[in-house]
Amino acid sequence: MDLVGKTVVVVGGFGGIGFEVCKCLLQSKIKSLGIFDQRENPSKLAELGNNDVDITFCKMDITKKPEIEQAYNRFIRKAGPIDLVINSAGIMDDRKVRLTVEINLIGLMESTLTAISHMNKLDGGKGGFIVNISSVLGIEPGTATAIYSGSKFGVVGFTKSLANDFYYQQNGVKLMVICPGITITPLIENLVGIKDTFDYSKDITSFISRAKSQTAEECAKNIIKSIQQAENGSIFICDLGELRSVELAKLWEIQFK
Ligand SMILES: NC(=O)c1ccc[n+]([C@@H]2O[C@H](COP(=O)([O-])OP(=O)(O)OC[C@H]3O[C@@H](n4cnc5c(N)ncnc54)[C@H](O)[C@@H]3O)[C@@H](O)[C@H]2O)c1
Repeated sequence: MDLVGKTVVVVGGFGGIGFEVCKCLLQSKIKSLGIFDQRENPSKLAELGNNDVDITFCKMDITKKPEIEQAYNRFIRKAGPIDLVINSAGIMDDRKVRLTVEINLIGLMESTLTAISHMNKLDGGKGGFIVNISSVLGIEPGTATAIYSGSKFGVVGFTKSLANDFYYQQNGVKLMVICPGITITPLIENLVGIKDTFDYSKDITSFISRAKSQTAEECAKNIIKSIQQAENGSIFICDLGELRSVELAKLWEIQFK
């Protein structure tokens, strides 16, 4: 997708990765930017500065469907039809099982379905593009954070299921998945023995905390690159400052009578 002149929403746009994505979008000469997040962050908003891009913050708790719908409606009334949505809200806190699934999976699903309902060509929309942020732990097991990993596998299954040509030919909406590797943001702070799956996960978690990582800026730059080249259903790994397109292994296929 060519980003010039586009109307874009970043859900979780004040987060570590989301905010760097917003900065890259502004440099890509988009027309309007909607930042949907659970709390306003005036200093970050100010950091984005004065430029030609119209920026709107919409308060939205992604666990609350009415707030998702209100945020989309409010933004579209102001900025017009949305071309691109990047779903980047998420938490890593395995001691909060329901909240993890509500934010990382159900919230992302409802944000995606709401975006599709506005973009849907069958209902007079003009189509669009939705980028769902999973994780490398959405394609490989994450032993220290099993709940998080489960929610992120869900993001891959959900997004790949909707990114089928059968739907695209009708609704005109493309989807893709981004799987970042370990990225330095608030999400991964204070994990060991606190946000990992069990108290006794901490040996694995502390071992992982010595792993190589990337900055949010490196990750965001590659997310933008992947958007510029993505096909419907693409999966990209953004890890250690590099970008790689990957395919899921086909482990099962439907058999007909
Ligand atoms: N940091 C990493 O190592 C890493 C690796 C792989 C994937 N990811 C994924 O990337 C995405 C961004 O993560 P990050 O590292 O920038 O984390 P972050 O904690 O810096 O940002 C997360 C954002 O989500 C928002 N959010 C949380 N709960 C919300 C709610 N209920 N409603 C609305 N917004 C909510 C927060 O306000 C914040 O802006 C997440 O989906 C995360 O799972 C991160």
